[in-house]
Amino acid sequence: MKIFDALILIRTQLVSSPVTSLIILVLSTLVGLLEAVSIATLVPLFDIIIKGDVGDLAKYSFVNYFLELFEVGLTTTVVLLLFSSFILMKGIFSLIAMSYIGRVVVELALNMRKNFLGGLLQSNWPSLANKNSGEFLNSINHEIPKAASIYRYSCLLLGSSLQLVALIYVLYTFSVFATYGGIFLAFLLYIVLGGFIRLSNEQAKNQANLTNSLMTRIHELLGSIKVIKAMDLSQFVLPVMLSEAKDIKKAEQKQIIATHGLNYLREPIVVIFLCVGLYFIIENQFLDDGLLVATLVLFLRLTQSVGKLQSDFQTFVVNSHFYHSFNNKLQTIIDNEEKQGISENILFKESLEFKKINFSHDSGKLLVDIDLKLPNKGFISITGKSGSGKTTLIDMLIGLYEPSSGSISMDGKNLKQIGFENIRSQVGYVQQDPFIFNESVLMNVGLTDERIAKKDILEALKAAKAESFVESMDNGLDTILGEGGSKISGGQKQRISIARALARKPSILILDEATSALDKTTMLDILEIMKGVSSKILVIAITHQQEVLEASDRIYKLEDFKLKEIRS
Ligand SMILES: Nc1ncnc2c1ncn2[C@@H]1O[C@H](COP(=O)(O)OP(=O)(O)OP(=O)(O)O)[C@@H](O)[C@H]1O
Ligand SMILES: [Mg+2]
Repeated sequence: MKIFDALILIRTQLVSSPVTSLIILVLSTLVGLLEAVSIATLVPLFDIIIKGDVGDLAKYSFVNYFLELFEVGLTTTVVLLLFSSFILMKGIFSLIAMSYIGRVVVELALNMRKNFLGGLLQSNWPSLANKNSGEFLNSINHEIPKAASIYRYSCLLLGSSLQLVALIYVLYTFSVFATYGGIFLAFLLYIVLGGFIRLSNEQAKNQANLTNSLMTRIHELLGSIKVIKAMDLSQFVLPVMLSEAKDIKKAEQKQIIATHGLNYLREPIVVIFLCVGLYFIIENQFLDDGLLVATLVLFLRLTQSVGKLQSDFQTFVVNSHFYHSFNNKLQTIIDNEEKQGISENILFKESLEFKKINFSHDSGKLLVDIDLKLPNKGFISITGKSGSGKTTLIDMLIGLYEPSSGSISMDGKNLKQIGFENIRSQVGYVQQDPFIFNESVLMNVGLTDERIAKKDILEALKAAKAESFVESMDNGLDTILGEGGSKISGGQKQRISIARALARKPSILILDEATSALDKTTMLDILEIMKGVSSKILVIAITHQQEVLEASDRIYKLEDFKLKEIRS
C-alpha cells in the first residue's frame, strides 16, 4: 500500500462520520497539547531538583501562562499539581475520544453486516447459485471486524500525528538542535523500519486471500463430512485442507517477524541515536541541565509517539486488505442485485404463459422456443430426463433465471415488468433437495411469517402427512430438527417442506421431485391431498414418478431442448 493510497483511505474513513471525526480531531489536539505542556511543566521541576532554584522565571513561557491564569507562584507543589492535572485531563480526553471511536466502529460493523446480508437476500439467483458460502462466512465473521477497525486506526493515526506536531513544537522551544535531531530520527526510523511495514502489507494481502480459500474448504468439508467418513476419504481430504492452513502459517510467521521487528529494533536505533545526540549536546553545552533533562524526557516521549504511529500504521495497512477484500465482495453483491418490478400485489387469476422462451446456462443451450400456457387451477406435471432443464424452466417462472429471449406473463402481464415479487408472494415452493433449518418444526413450517397462524401450520402438517411423526417426536412441534434437518429422515424433510409450502396457502404450488423419497403409501396419500388442492389452485409437479404422472391433468415432457405436451 502506497502512502498516498493510505492517506486517501484515511480521508474516506474520517469523512464517513464527519461530526464524530471532528470531535475526535479536537480531542486529539487537546491531548497532544496537554501531553506537550505537561512535559514543559517539568522543566522548572528539574531546575529545582538539580539547582535547588528555578532561576530566571522568564524562560518557562508555558508554565508562566498557567501561573498567571491561576494566580499562583512557582513552587514544587504547584508544578506537581499542574503536571498531574494535565496528565489527568489528557487521560479523560483520550478516554472520551476512544469511546467515540468505539461507537463509530461498532456502528460501522453493524452496517456492514446489514448491507452484506441484506444485499445477499436481494441478489439475483445465478450469482447466489454460484456463491461461495465459505467466503461469505469469512467476510461476516473475520473481515468485517477488521474492516470496521480501519476507522479506529484512521483516527489514531490522525491523533498521533497531531500529538507529534505538538510535541515537536514544544521541543522546538527547548532546543532547535534537538528538534532537527528528532525529525532526522523519525525519518531514519521510517527508512530503516519501513521494510517491516512493507512485509506486513504483502503478508496481509496473502492472508486475506488464504483465509477466504480456507473458509471455503472448511465449509465444503462440513457439508460433505458424511460422504468423507462413509468412504474413508479423510486421509485424502486432510492434506488438501492443510495446504492452505500451512500457507497461512507461513504468512503469519512473516507477519510476526514484521510486527516484532518493528517494535524491537526501534529501541536500539533510538538509544544509539540519542547517545550520539547527548554526546554533542553535553560536549558543546547546548542546553542547561534542567532543560537538558526535560528535552531528554520529551525526546523519549517523541520517539514513543513515532513508534506508536508506526505500529498503528502497520495494523492499518494489514486491516486495509481485509477492508478491501470485504468491499470487493459487497460490490459484487450490489452489482448482482435483482431488478425490481414496477408494481406490487397483483393477484394471480387466470393464466401463466411462457412465450418463445430460450435459455442457456454456461454449459450451453438448454431450452429452445418453449411455449407453455398454464391455467389457474389443475394438476400439471413436467417430466423429462435428468438434466433436461425441468428445474431451470420452473425457476424461470419465479424469476430466478432470466430467459435469453421470450417472455413470461401472469394474466397477460409481463412478469419482468410488473416484478417477480408479484408471483413469488403467491407461490408455495418445495425444492428438489429440501432445506431444513436448525429450528423447531413450528418455525420450519411457518418460518418467521407472522401471517401464518398455528392452526394453518397444523393443517399443513396434516395435509403433508407429517402429523404423526411430528407427534411422536420428544417435543412435538417444538422439536429442533438439527442442522440441515440432520435429526429427521429424507422423506420426513420432504414432508416438512411440503407443509411449509402449503401453510402459505399459495395460488401456485410448485413441487420439484417433492415426493421422491417417500414410500408408496405416504406418497399416494399426499398425492390425493394435492389433487384435492388442485381444484382450487395450480399445482405444478416436476417428477419422474409414474404415480404422480398418472394423477396429473396434463403432462409435459422436456426433451431435446423442447417442451411437448404428452397428455392433456
Ligand atoms: N447454475 C447453473 N450453472 C450452470 N449450469 C447449470 C446450473 N444449474 C443447472 N445447470 C445445468 O443445466 C442443466 C439442467 O439443469 P436442471 O437442474 O434444470 O435439470 P433437471 O431437468 O431439473 O434435472 P434433474 O431431473 O436431475 O433434477 C443441467 O445440465 C445442469 O448441469
Ligand atoms: Mg431438477
